[in-house]
Amino acid sequence: MDHRSTENLFAVVSPGLEAVCADEMTALGLPPQEVIAGGVVFSGKLRDIYLANLWLRTASRILVRFAEFKSRDFPDLYHRTHRLPWGRFIRPETSIAFRVTCHTSRLNHTVRIAETLESAANQALGRSTNPVGKDPQMVMVRVVDDQVTISIDSSGELLHRRGYRQSVTAAPLRETLAAGILMLLGWQETSSLTDPMCGSGSFLLEGALLAQNHAPGLNRSFAFMNWPGFREGLWTLLCGDAKRAVKEVPLVISGCDESIKAVSAAKENCQRNGFADQIKIEKRALGEQKVQEGQGLIICNPPYGKRLDLGENPEGYYSELGQQLQRAYPDRQIAMVCPSQSFIKATGLPFKQIASLDNGGLKVGLFATKPCK
Ligand SMILES: C[S@@+](CC[C@H](N)C(=O)[O-])C[C@H]1O[C@@H](n2cnc3c(N)ncnc32)[C@H](O)[C@@H]1O
Repeated sequence: MDHRSTENLFAVVSPGLEAVCADEMTALGLPPQEVIAGGVVFSGKLRDIYLANLWLRTASRILVRFAEFKSRDFPDLYHRTHRLPWGRFIRPETSIAFRVTCHTSRLNHTVRIAETLESAANQALGRSTNPVGKDPQMVMVRVVDDQVTISIDSSGELLHRRGYRQSVTAAPLRETLAAGILMLLGWQETSSLTDPMCGSGSFLLEGALLAQNHAPGLNRSFAFMNWPGFREGLWTLLCGDAKRAVKEVPLVISGCDESIKAVSAAKENCQRNGFADQIKIEKRALGEQKVQEGQGLIICNPPYGKRLDLGENPEGYYSELGQQLQRAYPDRQIAMVCPSQSFIKATGLPFKQIASLDNGGLKVGLFATKPCK
C-alpha cells in the first residue's frame, strides 16, 4: 500500500466500547468520522493504520475498506473484483483467508462468494492458486442487501492479544474489554485500583499499561507487516516514540484471588511485563480481606455460574459478596461486571448500570456505585 494514499478505515469494537474507542482515536489525533454499532469509521494513511494498531486499547481489529459495490450474481462479482489492486496488500506468495457473511442478498452462498473472490484475487496477483501457508492475509467480505463490502485486515491476530498475557485461568476477560471498562469508569491513573477476584490479572495489567502510558501493541506483530509496502523505518520510528512516551508513575494497583492457580498466573503475567515489583498480588478470599481505608476503585468480575460454578444458591453467593465488599472497602467506588440483574440486586449495593457489554459472547452489564473521587 502506498504510504501517501488516504484509506477508509474501520476499527472493529466489541459492543458497548465504541464510544470509548472513538475517544481514544481523538486523543491519538485520528478523528472518528462515525460511531456505529460494532465499530468506528475513520480515514487515514499508512501511518494512521500503524498508530491505530499500536495504540488503541479497545479496538479488536483495524480494517481497510478495499471495495464497496452492488452485485447480484457471481459473474458480476468476479467482473468487479478481478481488476482491484489486490497487490497493494497481498504478495504473490501470501495465502488469503476469506471470511464471508451475507444477509438478505441474492449472493447468499458464502463458500461460492469466497471461491469467486479467490479466483479474482489470484488473477490479479498473477498466480493460478491460493497458496497454502500460515498467517494468511484475512479478507472480510460482508454482503447486505446486495451491497458487497470487502475489507483487508491490518491487524492479524485480534488486538486483545497484546503478547504479554500467556498465563490464563478459567474465564479470563479480554484485555480490550478490561481496558474499556476502566475507561468507561473514568478511573484516574493516580487513584488506587484493586481487583479482589483478579483471576489472571486482566484489570491489573490493563490498569498498569494505561497508567504508565504503555502502547498495548509494542510487543507483537501485525498483518500489515506482510504487506508489500510495509515501511519498517516508519514502524520503528512510531515504536520508538511509544517507548519514550512511557511515564514512570508509581502504580497504586493490587489484586487478590482465593485460588492459588489464579494468583500464580496473575503474578507471572505481571512479571512478564516488568510490573512484578509494582503490583501487589496476594492469595486471599474476599471474606478474609482486612478493612482497607481510603478511596479508589474496586473492580470485580465474579463467577457468573456459567463457566465457573456458583453452587445452588447464586443469589446467596452474590449477597455475601456484597456484604464482604462493603465491609472490606467502605469508602471505595465498587464496580462489577455481571450478566444478571438479579445477582446485582442480591449484592444489596447501590449499583447503577454504566454500560451493556459483551464478554466472550455473553451479554453483561457494567455496574458501579458512586464515582471515584
Ligand atoms: C471470572 S474469574 C475472574 C477473571 C479475571 N477478571 C481475568 O480476566 O482473568 C473470577 C475469579 O474470582 C475468584 N473468586 C471467586 N470467589 C472468590 C472469593 N470469594 N474471593 C476471592 N476470589 C474469588 C476465582 O478464583 C476466579 O479467579
